[in-house]
Amino acid sequence: MNTSCIIRGMGHCVPDTKLTNADFERMVETNDEWITSRTGIRERRVALNGETCVDLCFGASQNALKSAGIKAEELTHVLVATFSPDAVIPSASCMLSHRLGIAGRMSMDVSAACSGFLYGLETARALIALHPEAKVLLACCDIVSSRVDYTDRSTCVLFGDGAGAVVITAEAPGLAGARVLDVMVASDGAMGDLLTVKGGGSGTPYKLGDTIRRDFFVEMNGREVYKHAVRAMSGICAELLKKHGLTRDDVDVFIPHQANLRIVEAVGKRLEIPEEKVFTNLQKYGNTSAASVPLALSEAVAEGAIKPGNLVLLGTFGGGFTWGSGLIKF
Ligand code: ACO
Repeated sequence: MNTSCIIRGMGHCVPDTKLTNADFERMVETNDEWITSRTGIRERRVALNGETCVDLCFGASQNALKSAGIKAEELTHVLVATFSPDAVIPSASCMLSHRLGIAGRMSMDVSAACSGFLYGLETARALIALHPEAKVLLACCDIVSSRVDYTDRSTCVLFGDGAGAVVITAEAPGLAGARVLDVMVASDGAMGDLLTVKGGGSGTPYKLGDTIRRDFFVEMNGREVYKHAVRAMSGICAELLKKHGLTRDDVDVFIPHQANLRIVEAVGKRLEIPEEKVFTNLQKYGNTSAASVPLALSEAVAEGAIKPGNLVLLGTFGGGFTWGSGLIKF
């Protein structure tokens, strides 16, 4: 069974509080020059006013529903992609459904770290193939600041908090939206230890009174992650283009995972996609994990960087390792 689906609306939501490179200069031994030249990141938004994953998902979802012209009550499925839900139980998707004032639907969290958007989109496509009448909300959010060690200069400068959401339905005559042409996702657990947040999982048990350990925060082998991210993201994007008989010239806008500018530039170079076709907003937000691609997609549309008729190529890479690619026709 194959039912084409469309993104009917999208939206995003970020916390108000900014952390600039100058702020980091006061927190750890670093400087603006190091951060900017290595990563391109200048500032990030952080949930210092107590905003949670569900708060940002709710904001992004309201914007996505508004732009889709769909009421929350019409939704049939609610998906949330995150590695930093408000709680272990209940799931962020159950909490989001409740905030949206709906019940009785399937609500499910998707765990694929920074690849959460494409894993969620693939799940939505499968749900719509099974239930062509489905109206699926996919909200992607990470409060990475809740799992970053702000004394570790090698990781803390890279991340920010944010959310992006889309509403997806089957394609039908007269319905406006961006057509999801295809999605391809992959994983390899053999390299999982290169990027981890282990604490809090059943693999690292702890008991009442234990102090928070280092493994409760993001731990990463930056150089190895860099190499694999570039190789995997460019590889799967090239594979998806080839599958559809497309070349880099057919791509109007490329939105890769906004990890950092050096990864983005290296992936663009490998795919031979000119710089002016690569959309980035990581300078303002840092790496927002699952929110990265939908936040960039939503901003690119809002800013007019994506125009009707454009073919948009998406790429993701994250812990797991997980990676993916997507093709969307506007
Ligand atoms: N400020 C100043 N110095 C720093 C900082 C900092 N914030 N962080 C690290 N350094 C120092 C290191 O301690 C090291 O010093 P030493 O030589 O005295 O030991 C030196 O800078 C070089 O460190 P490297 O880690 O080798 O720096 P590198 O050039 O590899 O850049 C970076 C680090 C930017 C993290 C790079 O490895 C990278 O881009 N990795 C990808 C990681 C990533 O983006 N992960 C995100 C999560 S996964 C994903 O979303 C794809």
